Amino acid sequence: MSKILITSALPYVNGVPHLGHMVGCLLPSDVYARYMRMMGHEVLYICGTDEHGTPSEVGAAKEGMDVADYCLKYHNRHKEAYKAFNLSFDYFGRTSSDQNKEMTYHIFEQLDKNGFIEEHSIKQIFSIDDNRFLPDRYVTGTCPHCGYEKARGDQCENCTKVLEPTELINPRSTISGSTNLEVRETKHLFLNLPLLEEKLAAWVKSKEPFWPDVAYSIAQKWLKEGLKPRCITRDLKWGFPVNKKGFEDKVFYVWFDAPIGYIGITKQWSDENPQTRNWKDWWLDAKDVRYVQFMGKDNVPFHSISFPATLLGTGENWTKVDYLKGMSYLTFEGGKFSKSENRGVFAEDAIKEFPADYWRYWLMANAPEASDSSFTFDLFAGTVNKDLNGVLGNFVSRVMKMTASKIGSVVPQAGEWLEVDKQLIADLQEKVENYCKYMENLEFKKALAELRAIWVDGNNYISVTEPWTVIKTDPQRAAAILNLCLNLIRIYAVLSYPIMPETAEKMLAKFGLDKTEINSLKDFKAEKEIKALKEGQAFEVGEALFERIAPEKVEELKAKYGSEKK
Ligand code: 2FM
Ligand code: ZN
Repeated sequence: MSKILITSALPYVNGVPHLGHMVGCLLPSDVYARYMRMMGHEVLYICGTDEHGTPSEVGAAKEGMDVADYCLKYHNRHKEAYKAFNLSFDYFGRTSSDQNKEMTYHIFEQLDKNGFIEEHSIKQIFSIDDNRFLPDRYVTGTCPHCGYEKARGDQCENCTKVLEPTELINPRSTISGSTNLEVRETKHLFLNLPLLEEKLAAWVKSKEPFWPDVAYSIAQKWLKEGLKPRCITRDLKWGFPVNKKGFEDKVFYVWFDAPIGYIGITKQWSDENPQTRNWKDWWLDAKDVRYVQFMGKDNVPFHSISFPATLLGTGENWTKVDYLKGMSYLTFEGGKFSKSENRGVFAEDAIKEFPADYWRYWLMANAPEASDSSFTFDLFAGTVNKDLNGVLGNFVSRVMKMTASKIGSVVPQAGEWLEVDKQLIADLQEKVENYCKYMENLEFKKALAELRAIWVDGNNYISVTEPWTVIKTDPQRAAAILNLCLNLIRIYAVLSYPIMPETAEKMLAKFGLDKTEINSLKDFKAEKEIKALKEGQAFEVGEALFERIAPEKVEELKAKYGSEKK
C-alpha cells in the first residue's frame, strides 16, 4: 500500500460546471481515486473552488452581491453538483480559506527570502468609469490584424493572434463598455522564473519517464522558449492582500494562490478532521506519496512549470507532481458550451434528466484523452441504450429473471466447469488484468472498452450455453450455468464501481451485499471470484438497472439544451 495524493484542477467559482468541466478533470480524477482506494491504497483526493480574480468581482457586481457572499453561493452550487455526480472528494475546499492565505503567505515569504521575487513597473489599462485596472482579457476592441471587432486584449478569437491590449483599435472596457480608458504605470511583484530555470529543467527532465508525452512536451516547449519573470500580483481588491511592504494595496494573482490551494485545502481538511493524518504527511517532507494531478490541457503549463518552480524556489521539500493527466476538450453538438447562449448541459441540469451513472459512463467511455471528443444527444442515447441498457442491464435482468422463474430467487448449485465455462473464466481473468492495467495507467477510454467487452462476454456466454433450453433435459447443468452468470453479476458490480458507483451498489444490493465487496478487485483471481456467491444465496430481481432513452426524448433534449450551432 502506498499513499496516493490526487488533485483535480480547482474550478473557477464563477459560473456553474458543464459536462466539459466534468470530464475535463473532475470525473477522471474521481474514477481514479475510487479505483485506487479499491486497490487498497491510502488515497487523499482534494478539490475545491478557485475563487479569486476579476471574474468573481465582475460576477458579484452583476448580481449586486458582495464578492465573498457571491463566492460562497457559487461554492455551494459547485459542491452540490459534484455531490450529485457522486464525486468522492475527501475534501472540497476553497482557495479563499484562511488556511490557503497562511500557505500563500508562507510560500511567498520563502520565495522572497531566497531572492526569487523582484519588482517591476508595468503599464496597464485603467478604466476611469469602472475605477479599476482591467486585466488584458477585459479590454475589447478591433483586432489590428484582421479587423474583428470583438477581439480581446490578450488574444483575437478570430485570427488567434496574441495581442497586447494597447494594440486594439477603439479599445473599451468589457465590463462597462466605457471607452474612457488610460494607460497607467503600476508596480508589481514578479517571480523570477529565469533564476529557477536550471533547477526546474532538471526536475522536469527527471519526470520524463513518468509523465505522459503530451504533458512532458508542453513543459519542454516552455523551457525551450526560455522562461520569463511572471507577475504574481494584481491591482484588485478581491484576493489575498500582498504581505510585503509597499504592496499592501495589491493582491496575489489568482494563478499564484490557486495551485497553492491544493495545499491550503488539504490543511482545511486536516484542521477540520483532526483524527486524520496531518496535512504535512502529504505535502512537506512527505514520504511515499505519489502525487497525481488532473487538469484540462490548457492548465498543463501552470502545473508543470509555474507551480513546481514556485515550490522549488521555497527551498523546502514540497510534494511535487509525479503524474500529470492533461485532458483535451469536449465539444457540445459540434460547438462550444456556452452558458450565455444557453448551449450545453450543465451538471446541475444533467442530473435532473438522468441518473449520474448514465453521464459518468458516457463521459468516461468517450473521455477526451488523446484528442477532443464530441458530445451529442444521439451519441449519448445510443450508448445508454446499447451499452448500459442493452448489454449490462439486459444481462442482469435476463439472468435474474430466468433463474427466479425457472429455479427460484436463490443462487443455484454450481457444477463441474465445462470447456465453455473455463474459457469464460480465462477470458475474464485476462480482461480484468487489462482493465486494471489501463486504470493504473490512467487510460480511461481503454479501461471502459475492456469493461464493456467483459459485459459482452457474459451476454455471449448465456446465448451460447442456452440455460433456458438445457433446463428441460439437464437441470443441474442449467443451474451451474446460472450460478456462473449470477456470480458474473457480482463481479460486474465490483468492476463497474469506479465508474458507476450507484449502479454497482444497486447490483450488489440485489444480493443483499454492500460495497465491502469491491475490495475483491485487488489481486483478482477469476477462478475464486466466480465462486464468491454460494449456493442458496438469495437475490431479488428488483427493478431494471437502466431505462432506454426514446427518440422523442432525444429530440426534446436537443431543443431544450440548444443543439443548433449558433
Ligand atoms: O482553469 C481553471 O478552471 C482554473 N481555475 C484551474 C486552477 S487549477 C489550480 F491551480 F488551482
Ligand atoms: Zn484578429
